[in-house]
Amino acid sequence: MTSDREYSKMGHWGMKGRNRLSDLKDKIVLVTGAGGAIGGAVAAAIRNAGGTVIASDLASAKGTDTLLDVTLEADWQRVTADIETRHGHLDGLVNAAGIAVVGSIEKTDFATWKRVMSINLDGTFLGCKYAFPLLRKKGGAIVNLSSVLGLVGSSNLTAYTASKGGVSLLTKSVALNGARYRPSVRCNAVCPAFIEGAMVDDIAGGTKNPQAVQQRLIADIPIGRLGQPDEVAKLCTYLLSDDAAFITGADFPIDGGLTAR
Ligand SMILES: NC(=O)c1ccc[n+]([C@@H]2O[C@H](COP(=O)([O-])OP(=O)(O)OC[C@H]3O[C@@H](n4cnc5c(N)ncnc54)[C@H](O)[C@@H]3O)[C@@H](O)[C@H]2O)c1
Repeated sequence: MTSDREYSKMGHWGMKGRNRLSDLKDKIVLVTGAGGAIGGAVAAAIRNAGGTVIASDLASAKGTDTLLDVTLEADWQRVTADIETRHGHLDGLVNAAGIAVVGSIEKTDFATWKRVMSINLDGTFLGCKYAFPLLRKKGGAIVNLSSVLGLVGSSNLTAYTASKGGVSLLTKSVALNGARYRPSVRCNAVCPAFIEGAMVDDIAGGTKNPQAVQQRLIADIPIGRLGQPDEVAKLCTYLLSDDAAFITGADFPIDGGLTAR
């Protein structure tokens, strides 16, 4: 029998086309943070589903074709103007850029708070704001990377938790505005628990005993393992697709049962 872990490693698209859930043929989707674990998996999944990806990140990130610092309004203006010239519209936006910084309310300094808010929340606001006019042209969908920590608290990731709470409610506000248009602009939040990749490695690596911390993170997840980036990517491609036409303003935990307790 195939284990959960083996199944997730096989990947949705490795299954010879069977169970193909989402079709993004001819859809143009901008992805931020596309050099990261989740953003990179999302970009690959969109391509596999037939879509065209504009993969953006900071200059330092690998595998991206568009420079976009999500905290800079001028970058959003440049990138969206360029998309309008080249394509005339957008079908989707995935706001995947983000950072996590460990620290309780007592240990988080104001500069760190502002940096986390600037990337995670301001960056998502600017993305929704500047992509919206392009998405409105033919209807489209936004997927914001929130987190389980946008739904429940954590004593030791204070700024991150607050930023993701903001992303989840920003999502609902954008969704309600987008629902007024015909065709509509949908907006949903994906809320992963800990996913294999640099972010979790950095969180654990910043502590005295990284291995013990990794084990503690896994112990919090009823399914008993970290998530895989491609599992999050499949949910994102579904939410971008027309199969999700009646879904907007929702938070989607993808967390191995963490928030079920
Ligand atoms: N990894 C997890 O366990 C996890 C869990 C829940 C939610 N998330 C969220 O999913 C998203 C993606 O996480 P990931 O695991 O791929 O992280 P990652 O660290 O692998 O990638 C994040 C990417 O964001 C980019 N980035 C950082 N600052 C930026 C800026 N100012 N402008 C543009 N890009 C910038 C980085 O260069 C990097 O490529 C984040 O929003 C994160 O908060 C991750």
